[in-house]
Amino acid sequence: MTAPLVLGIETSCDETGVGLVRGHELLADAVASSVDEHARFGGVVPEVASRAHLEAMVPTVERALSRAGARLADVDAIAVTAGPGLAGALLVGVCAAKAYALATGKPLYGVNHLAAHVAVDQLEHGPLPAPAIALLVSGGHSSLLLVPDLATDVVPLGATIDDAAGEAFDKVARVLGLPFPGGPHIDRAAAAGDRNAIAFPRGKYADGTSDFSFSGLKTAVARWAEAREAAGEPVPVADVAASFQEAVADVLTRKALAACKATGVDHLVIGGGVAANSRLRALAAERCAAAGVQLRVPRPGLCTDNGAMVAALGAELVARGTPPSAPEFAADSSLPVTQVVAA
Ligand code: KG4
Ligand code: ZN
Repeated sequence: MTAPLVLGIETSCDETGVGLVRGHELLADAVASSVDEHARFGGVVPEVASRAHLEAMVPTVERALSRAGARLADVDAIAVTAGPGLAGALLVGVCAAKAYALATGKPLYGVNHLAAHVAVDQLEHGPLPAPAIALLVSGGHSSLLLVPDLATDVVPLGATIDDAAGEAFDKVARVLGLPFPGGPHIDRAAAAGDRNAIAFPRGKYADGTSDFSFSGLKTAVARWAEAREAAGEPVPVADVAASFQEAVADVLTRKALAACKATGVDHLVIGGGVAANSRLRALAAERCAAAGVQLRVPRPGLCTDNGAMVAALGAELVARGTPPSAPEFAADSSLPVTQVVAA
């Protein structure tokens, strides 16, 4: 018997993502991004994102279906990000998913965006061993989670107390005159730099918690660059990018491995846009190998927001026989990470 075909819809930030998944098999992953429309503002403008979702929704669903060689009538269940995320952006996805569910008569799951970032790894590396530790780092979130059961039990261990890791990349990029979103540009610039050139601060490094802080680091980079400029010296962009990136990767991997050790868990999943960072991936691989922890990081295209991750979590819920969300479930911009499925 073939596994049910699940359509996933993601609109929590600036990516309109639609994925089709059967079991752990990825059949299509269509993404329309409004990132270019936000570039001149240096950050995502919620109303601009919502409007872009509205325009991209139906064409992106059609693109995903055609790539998978499927029709809407073939879909067995629909999953959509219910939260957390931008309220207006979430609303577009949730309304569209409700319309598709109503039109097709198929069950609808409102799912948690963070759990979906973890679930997507199953499309690449197969079933996730339980329990696992998950490090989720993106423009909107930086969290460490204990995942005893992806479908029912996600326990927050810690989160950023100020900026998200990706937000720090974006703000530092702006200081260095690099375009938005800054992460990929810093990653590229850092390749030519010395990561030990400047000792930038590592917030909450050894405080014994699983929380993060990146706002002090961001400020330190800005002050350092200002001091160079004030002295009439050029800012060595590659060295600053490499040293900043090293500070972020060092703190993230240290805290993630400390969480593995404290909980006795030997599987670590990393997800979210910042998981695309080359130094974070390399340092995580190195430190996990030294600690005897199995590292799982999806390919970069599945780390950033996409619909496949939502479909992957939806497929997991369907496989477990989880009851669908009530038809009147609401988008919830601050959906707690402990709530995998909207009631
Ligand atoms: O997961 P994502 O696509 O959307 C959010 O949920 O925020 O993550 C976007 C974030 C941005 O802050 C971007 O600068 C960062 O991920 N990012 C990176 C890299 N690629 C994307 N940060 C560091 N290195 C990268 N290679
Ligand atoms: Zn995300």
